[in-house]
Amino acid sequence: MSFTDEIAKRRTFGVIAHPDAGKTTLTEKLLLFGGAIQEAGAVKSNKIKKGATSDFMEIERQRGISVATSVLAFNYKDKKINILDTPGHKDFAEDTFRTLTAVDSVIVVVDVAKGVEEQTEKLVEVCRMRNIPMIVFINKLDREGKDAFDLLDEVEKKLDLKVTPLSFPIGMGYDFKGIYNIWEKNINLFSSDSKKNINDLITISDLSSDELDNLVGNSSADKLRDELELVEEIYPEFNREAYLSGELQPVFFGSALNNFGVRELLDCFVEIAPSPRPKDSDTRTVNPNEDAFSGFVFKIHANMDPKHRNRLAFVKIVSGTFEKNKAYMHVRLGKNLKFSSPNAFFAEKKEIVDISYAGDIVGLPDTGNFKIGDTLTEGEKMQFKGIPSFSPEHFRYINNADPMKSKQLEKGIDQLMDEGVAQLFTLEMNGRKVIGTVGALQYEVIQYRLEHEYGAKCTYENFSAFKACWVRPEDAKNEEFAEFKRVKQKFLARDKSGQLVFLADSEFSIQMTQSKFPTVKLTFVSENV
Ligand code: G4P
Repeated sequence: MSFTDEIAKRRTFGVIAHPDAGKTTLTEKLLLFGGAIQEAGAVKSNKIKKGATSDFMEIERQRGISVATSVLAFNYKDKKINILDTPGHKDFAEDTFRTLTAVDSVIVVVDVAKGVEEQTEKLVEVCRMRNIPMIVFINKLDREGKDAFDLLDEVEKKLDLKVTPLSFPIGMGYDFKGIYNIWEKNINLFSSDSKKNINDLITISDLSSDELDNLVGNSSADKLRDELELVEEIYPEFNREAYLSGELQPVFFGSALNNFGVRELLDCFVEIAPSPRPKDSDTRTVNPNEDAFSGFVFKIHANMDPKHRNRLAFVKIVSGTFEKNKAYMHVRLGKNLKFSSPNAFFAEKKEIVDISYAGDIVGLPDTGNFKIGDTLTEGEKMQFKGIPSFSPEHFRYINNADPMKSKQLEKGIDQLMDEGVAQLFTLEMNGRKVIGTVGALQYEVIQYRLEHEYGAKCTYENFSAFKACWVRPEDAKNEEFAEFKRVKQKFLARDKSGQLVFLADSEFSIQMTQSKFPTVKLTFVSENV
C-alpha cells in the first residue's frame, strides 16, 4: 500500500460525553466490531463514581500502568481507526481539551433521558471553535427518554449545532421497536438479544407499503411515516462537505449497551469521517501527505509504578512517517533525538513498531525531555499551534515540608507541570510558588505523586485568586504598562514558560483593571504551554 493510501485510511477520533452518557460502553462496542476485543467488559471505565480521592488514586494508578487505553486502535473495513480517550470528569477537562487537538473528528454521546449535559456543552464548544467534524449518537433508547424532535432541538440550541438525523427511532423505552436508518434506508428491529441484531437488517424500499406495518404494527408505522416526513421538511439533507467543515452534524440513535444502532454509526463513520487533517504551525500549514515527518506532544503519561519511572509522551503524527531509530529534531530544545522503542497502540495493547503514519499516535518513552505542546520534525523549525492552557479555577501556595528534599520537590513539580497535571505560577514579588488547578482533586494527586514518585513532601496554603489572566504587554502603552505593574505588583506572577500572568482575585477586579488599563490585554487562555 502506498504512503498516501496508508494515510488516507486513517480515522483518528475521540468520543466525548458527560460522565455516564455511555462513552465507555460505546467505545467497547466499537472495539467489538473491529474484532479488537473478544468480550464486553474489556475496556475499563475511568470514571470517578463519587469523586472520592481513593477512587481517583486507583484510577490514576491503573491509567498509569495500562497507558494503552489512552489510544485504542483497530481495523474496520480497510480503515485504521484510532480512538483517543477523552476523560469526561470535569477535573480532567484540560486533558480532554488537549486530546481534542489531536483528533480529526469526534462522536458526541448524549443520554436520551438526560439530554445535553454540562460537560458535553463545554467539550462541544471547543470542537465547534475548531470546526472539528462531529457525529452525535443519542444513546439509551431502550429507556424512556425525551421525544426525538425535542432532543434534536435541544442539541441544536444548547450545543449551537446544525443537525440532520441519519437514523430515527421507532418508539422508545418500553415501546422501543427499532431504528429506521435514513442513511442506508433499512430497518433494524430491536431485540435485547444483542447477538441477533447484527444480521437482522430489513431493507425497506417503500415506506408506504404494508411491509412496514407488518414489521412494527399499524400505529408505529403511521407514526414513523409522519415523523420521517417531518424530518425531511425540517432538516437539511446530509452533505459531506458541510459535515467536514463543521457546519452540519449528522445524528444517530441507538443503545450502546444493547449493541443497537452501533454498527450503523460505525459504517457511516468510516464512510464519511475525515482522514488526517492539515494542521497549522507558527510558520505554515502542514499537510499530512508531506514526506517529512512532523508531530506534536498532546499528552504525557507518568508511569506511577516507582520501579519504572519513565513517562510516555503521546505524539500525534501530523505529516509523513515516524520511524524507529531515526533522528528527529526536538524543536524547543533544538536537539536531535532518536527513539529505539516507539510504542504503537492496538486494541488494549501497545507494541513497538518500526513505522507509523500521519494520523497515528506514537508513545515515546521519555525521561524528561518533553512537555505538552512540544513539536518534533525532521529539522524544520516550527511549532504546532493550538494546544490551549486554560485559566485554573483553584489556586494554592505550595510549600516544602521537608527541607532535605527540596531538589526532589523542585524536580517533581517541574515534571508534573510538564505533564499538564496543573499549572505553576511564581510570584514576581517574592518568588513564592502557586499551583493552579482545574479541579480540587488535583492537589491531593500532586501531593501523593510528589511523595510516592519523587520522595518529596509538600503542604498547601490558601491563595485567594479567582482567575489567571495572561498579560499581553506587547500591545500596551509603555507608561500604562508600567503603572499596571506598579499597582498590581502583589498579583503578578510568571507561568512556567515565563509569560506574565495577573492573578485576579475577583471578576470585579478584572473588570476594573481592564477599564483602568485598556491597552493592557488580558486573556484567559494561553496557547504556549
Ligand atoms: P461513561 O463512560 O460515559 O461514563 O458511561 P458508561 O459507558 O460507563 O455508561 C454509564 C452507565 O450507563 C452504565 O451503567 C452503562 O451500563 C449504562 N448504559 C450505557 N449505554 C446504555 C444503554 O444503551 N442503555 C442503558 N439502559 N444503559 C446504558 P452503570 O450502572 O453506571 O454501570 P455498570 O455498573 O452497568 O457498568
